[in-house]
Amino acid sequence: MNTNPNNVSDARKAPFFSGGEREMVRAPHRFFLQLTRDYGDVVQYRATPEPAFLFNHPEFVKHILVSNGRNYNKETHLNKHMLQAVTGQGLLTSENPLWRKQRRLIQPFFHRSYLANFADLMTTATHEMLARVAGYAAQNAPFDIANEMMTLTLNIVSRALFGYDMDKQAEIIGEAVNTMIEIGKPKRPRFQEALVVLDKIVFELIQQRRERPSPNQNDLLDLLMQARYEDSGEGMSDQQIRDEVMSLLIAGHETTANTLGWLWYLLAQHPAVVEKVGAELDVVLNGRSPTVADFPNLVYCDKVIKESMRLYPSAWSISRHAVADDEIDGYEIPAGAIVAVSPYTLHRHPEFWPEPEAFDPERFTPEQEAARHRYAYIPFGAGARKCIGDQFALMESIIILPMTLQRFHLQLVPDHSIEEHALVTLRARHGILMTATPR
Ligand code: HEM
Repeated sequence: MNTNPNNVSDARKAPFFSGGEREMVRAPHRFFLQLTRDYGDVVQYRATPEPAFLFNHPEFVKHILVSNGRNYNKETHLNKHMLQAVTGQGLLTSENPLWRKQRRLIQPFFHRSYLANFADLMTTATHEMLARVAGYAAQNAPFDIANEMMTLTLNIVSRALFGYDMDKQAEIIGEAVNTMIEIGKPKRPRFQEALVVLDKIVFELIQQRRERPSPNQNDLLDLLMQARYEDSGEGMSDQQIRDEVMSLLIAGHETTANTLGWLWYLLAQHPAVVEKVGAELDVVLNGRSPTVADFPNLVYCDKVIKESMRLYPSAWSISRHAVADDEIDGYEIPAGAIVAVSPYTLHRHPEFWPEPEAFDPERFTPEQEAARHRYAYIPFGAGARKCIGDQFALMESIIILPMTLQRFHLQLVPDHSIEEHALVTLRARHGILMTATPR
């Protein structure tokens, strides 16, 4: 990035790369990384009819997502033609003034003090996952840990939303959500069918709760239904509740599952790190499952999780639509342009991450964190639209990682090809096959 203040008002033209259509479809995250290596921190590329720019410096992130965030909304192709078909006007995809009103209403439920109520259900769901893994281990059978993480995080987010009311339907919900994510095109009949199934379940549940309120349930659905806007004293409409429920299901499930899948992949290749985690677990937990009180003491686990999200940020790209003309470090951005920042490329920026491809949890010592640019690491985004579920996801991770390592030694199945697949989130195209042996 050019930080020379004399350049700020000189209009500059971003280098333009006009090819890459095939790469963009096959591996857009690697395509972005190559662009930053070939062209630097700003590049214009061809993706949509509108001009599209990739910005790859923490100062740019700050400008686009934070200080001038108001000029960059979420009216992107992905939002309008895919996500909104599912999440409607929920938090993930709505715009002001609705978004601000909803975020204010819902934010408190994601405060740590509320989230502590979910620790038990996270532990229970993890025990269930471990019982399945014990089954594979007993038969010495390989299993897809990425898929196990999907089931686990779906169980967790749907229980946090609906309590255990939905356990019978969990499989149906899971299938519907996965179908939509995999098909990715709302016009396809199978996508529509899945959406109808999901809608029916959610609206029925809202209806049941309206008829027979169960105030002590303390799940997110109850909280959403009881929440009242400060100004009017009214609650949300059924449609708005439905949209928020869908947003939390969609935003909260696959992202976390992928994060954990990649974490296992990295750990399997770094036995010394696993050993160090094991030593911390022995000291802090001595064989117990972790509770909320243990989290601050699982210092090394925290570093490992953060480093894993550096290399494999599930939300690998964050894009925005420029509302009005803007100028970023001298580069002119016309109204209507698409502006992307990519955690995947940013987290590999050599200026902030020496030996960027190396897995090294020690990058996250408090000293190193304090010395680094605040926006060099954005697995949960930044600014007003930062992930509302970040603490929820970190809590899941810091429960699941210890509990799993306390019980099993995990190994990659040799010769199984692991391929990064960047859809809306960064997945493993052929899953992550592993074998487990009891410790
Ligand atoms: C490791 C797991 C997760 C990752 C990597 C992740 C990442 C992100 C990112 C990058 C954004 C910002 C997107 C943007 O600016 O365009 C976001 C937004 C959001 N996330 Fe997460 N997320 C995770 C887990 C969760 C969980 C567990 C929940 C809920 C239970 C959740 C709910 C949301 C919602 C509702 C938004 C939209 C917030 C708004 O615009 O107000 N996420 N997430």
